[in-house]
Amino acid sequence: MIWILVSVAAVLLLIYDRLKFRHWTKRGVPHLTPIPFFGHYHPVAFGLQPPGMFYDCHLQKHKDKKYFGVYEYHRPTLVLNDLDLVEHVLVKDFSSFANHPRWVIDESSYLNQMTLNLRGNLWRATRYRLTPSFTASKMQLALDRILRIASPNFQEGEFELQDKMSAIAADVIASYFGATIQNKDAFAQAMFEQTYTSPIRHVEYQFLEHFPKLAAWSGMSLFSKKIDKTMRETSRALLSGCGATSEFRSLIEGIKSDGVLRMKGKDFDINGNEEADHVFEATDELLLGQASQFLFAGLDATANTMGFLAYEIAANLDVQAKVRAEVTAALAKHGNQWSYEMLHELTYLQNCVQESMRIHSVKPFLFREATRDYTFPGTNLKIKTGEKVVIPAISFQMDPQHYPEPEKFKPERWSEDARPKSKFTWLPFGEGPRQCLGMRFSIMEMKLVLGKLLTEFEMTISPRTAMPAGHVTLGIVGRLDRPVYVRLNRLNSGKTS
Ligand code: HEM
Repeated sequence: MIWILVSVAAVLLLIYDRLKFRHWTKRGVPHLTPIPFFGHYHPVAFGLQPPGMFYDCHLQKHKDKKYFGVYEYHRPTLVLNDLDLVEHVLVKDFSSFANHPRWVIDESSYLNQMTLNLRGNLWRATRYRLTPSFTASKMQLALDRILRIASPNFQEGEFELQDKMSAIAADVIASYFGATIQNKDAFAQAMFEQTYTSPIRHVEYQFLEHFPKLAAWSGMSLFSKKIDKTMRETSRALLSGCGATSEFRSLIEGIKSDGVLRMKGKDFDINGNEEADHVFEATDELLLGQASQFLFAGLDATANTMGFLAYEIAANLDVQAKVRAEVTAALAKHGNQWSYEMLHELTYLQNCVQESMRIHSVKPFLFREATRDYTFPGTNLKIKTGEKVVIPAISFQMDPQHYPEPEKFKPERWSEDARPKSKFTWLPFGEGPRQCLGMRFSIMEMKLVLGKLLTEFEMTISPRTAMPAGHVTLGIVGRLDRPVYVRLNRLNSGKTS
């Protein structure tokens, strides 16, 4: 009896596969032959490849094509391999691709209402209100506060790079809320559990992203109840203001006292009545979502990016000497005062940030969901509302056509006369109206932390570290793939080279 049931189920699955896997063939979109149930996604499903590498592997087999299709289980995903098409999706025809598609964040998670996850007009209204968080004058105030309450302190000796950068990033983002994190141990533990991806967690992520109903039915969630509670409490405490005031909190308090987010039809990029008012209730959960977004992005994404940057600077002592010379000269020019303007002048350090992020993107691909049926310009390719489009950013960033010897860390390639022609070959923060809102903030933070460190110390990789380090992206954001120990020697102590 059991065999009959298994055989019937297998036959039904094969029929379902055949129906689903006709999608790209019917549209004339190139793709590799899918396998039953997994489509093309088995390397990701079994944890053998992170998604960024998965898209890149397919791209290498479609090098001469402007686009190609993959099946993530039964879900058809269009992958773009042409910078003009990328520009249409991210910028020129943004209103047809305004949403991020469904991914691992489940409805119970404290991250569910964060900006990245909001859709349609609610996203537009929220982003519109949050955008003033990062003007140049607010950056200066944030920098003053970082220097006052989260000044990165370094001491001579040896430490593990990623841990140190995570601790600094936590202090810095808390200072952005005008606060300090009180229970650092509980917080660090929650952060670790949040980002650690065991094989079981990996399977859960697969269910959450690709079979959300089944995941909800079986009680799976992105984070455990304990982590969810800690992170919600931390976000709430940061928002309720237990320390100095901050521009971000004032912004949120402004929204809270209005009770609503309000925008005119003409402020939205949609057709319709331009004078119509769009009003959304500013619920507690929505405000918590925004605080969580800033906290989450300010922690992992920034800490890991800073970890990669520090690693490259420690491993390339010639680059390190140039950064030090640049920072020392700028400090002398500005009366030994750190300021947003002074950081802006550190162009070589900026080049290092860009180069490190080109090689080690914590988010190696971008995604969008079609918000209306759309035909790609200059092609017969059509996409329907709700379908997913991927932009394989890391493939462009590591393409020798755009960046000769792409594996090499060469900040010089970002100098004025050498930089690549198209801005769509460098996408670590995304691009267009959904580009990362915290880009200025995190670049400022990285320049400040590394700049300060290098004026006082020489930083070298300890012999304890197995070199070279690479990156892993099996979890939500990429990070160094092993512990990296660095040694700091005070510059005037006579021990440095
Ligand atoms: C180095 C650190 C960071 C990296 C690499 C990074 C990267 C990204 C990327 C790739 C996106 C998606 C962009 C797109 O789809 O086009 C994004 C979105 C976002 N990021 Fe960041 N981020 C970082 C730090 C931050 C920080 C510190 C904040 C806030 C303080 C922040 C706030 C946001 C917000 C609000 C969004 C959602 C934008 C939207 O959907 O409208 N990020 N980030």
